[in-house]
Parts: sequence; structure tokens; C-alpha cells
Amino acid sequence: MKKDARPFIVAANWKMHKSPREAGEFLKSFVAQTNKRSLGGDCEVVFFVPAIDLMVAAESLRDSQVKWGAQNCYFEMKGAFTGETSPAVLSEIGAHYTLVGHSERRAIFHESDAETGKKVKALQGVGIVPMLCVGETLAEREAGRTNEVILRQLRAGLEHRDTNKNVVIAYEPVWAIGTGKVATPQQANDAHVALRQGLKDLGGDGFSRVTPILYGGSVKPENAAELGAQSEIDGFLVGGASLEIATFLPLIPG
Ligand code: PGA
Repeated sequence: MKKDARPFIVAANWKMHKSPREAGEFLKSFVAQTNKRSLGGDCEVVFFVPAIDLMVAAESLRDSQVKWGAQNCYFEMKGAFTGETSPAVLSEIGAHYTLVGHSERRAIFHESDAETGKKVKALQGVGIVPMLCVGETLAEREAGRTNEVILRQLRAGLEHRDTNKNVVIAYEPVWAIGTGKVATPQQANDAHVALRQGLKDLGGDGFSRVTPILYGGSVKPENAAELGAQSEIDGFLVGGASLEIATFLPLIPG
């Protein structure tokens, strides 16, 4: 599943699901089950947990090969920003990745392209790898604007990036998220090809070769193998199917 110089990353996005107790039970059981099998040298597993579960993730996944991170953060390190999470604090407690610009943040919480750029920069500044989400709505796809939209989001999100630090991209067509309507492997790969070219235009060959592009949107055990076999798909960002070990574990190449 690994392509070129990129790791294959299977990431869980729990959204607003699971209490600290539920998260701890899930993660401990997940670690016990994955310890029995190798995750495969080039495969990474990541859990994006609700903010209130972050400390439980830190404790439950300490000493394991499984990584974790937040679903969102602010772009300032501290101050009068009621309700926000500081990248500096995420770094202090050991977050490896953090999501930026998930479509639910963009659509429901009005997060702008410009804010995603500031968040990417803030996270990289404290040593956290941003996972920048991009994706078109159904109306945008039907109007033939898919590439224009995802490349605009890519450029804005990476505008202030540190060229010496890593970033991960997640392509999530909005019409495929939580709908059971998965993009066909060809549709997904076409968008990934456009994003790969976008990475090349922004940062050259080396940058585009090492930057993983994950697919997200109704990934489940029945469609994971075919999606994962596409030339430009370097892993999955998984919502619904990540909430149960029985549906998440089979998505991890072993
Ligand atoms: P889904 O969510 O797998 O439930 O479609 C994916 C996501 O929003 O990250």
C-alpha cells in the first residue's frame, strides 16, 4: 500500500463521539489487539479524538506505536480566546498530528481558507504535523469546479507553511462524508492526482513525493482495499467506521 517515499496513514476522526471513559476503554483494547499483529513498518495509525479525550489518548497510547491528535485548534498560543485549544498545549501533551479545515469546521463553524493557513503555520511552529482537509461540495462537483476548489483550499492552507516541515493532506469530498456515498476509486484518484500536481507546483518534486494524501468519505471495510490500491491514495481519514474496533481494524493494512 505504501507508495514512493510516503507512509500509509489510517486515521480515525471520532468527531463529537466518545466520552473520556469510552475513549480510554476503546484505545486500551485497540492497543492490545494491534500489539498482537504488526501494523506493518510503513503504516501509521492515528486517532483524532474530541478535545476532552486528549489526555486520555495521551495516557492510553503512551508506549504504543499508535499516534493521536486534536480535531481542531486555534492559531494563537494563548490569550483571550474562550473555548479554543492552544497548539502549544497540544504539543506539550504529545499530540503528533492535528486536523485543519475539516469540512464540518468550514461549513458549520465558518472556518475560512485564511484561518486554515494560520493554523498550519501555528502547528508546524510547535512541532505538530497538520493534516489539512480539502474537498468540494456536490454542487461544486456538478458544476465542474472540483479541482479549482480543492487546489484553492490547498494553496490557502499551505500559504504560510514551513518548507522544512511535514504536512499531510486529506481529500474528503463533502458529498461522500457520512453519507454512505463513497467516491469511486477513479474519482478519488483523479482528485489526488490534481492535488499531487498542486503540491509539486507549490513545493517542487521532493515535497510532492513525500507528502501523503489521504482519502476520506464513507471509507469502510468493503471499499478500503480498492481505494488503498490507487496510485495516489496514501491512506484514509475515517469517521463512522472508526467508532468500532471491528470496522476500523480491517482498514489497516497488516
Ligand atoms: P465518514 O467521515 O467516514 O463518516 O464519511 C469522514 C470524515 O469526515 O473525516
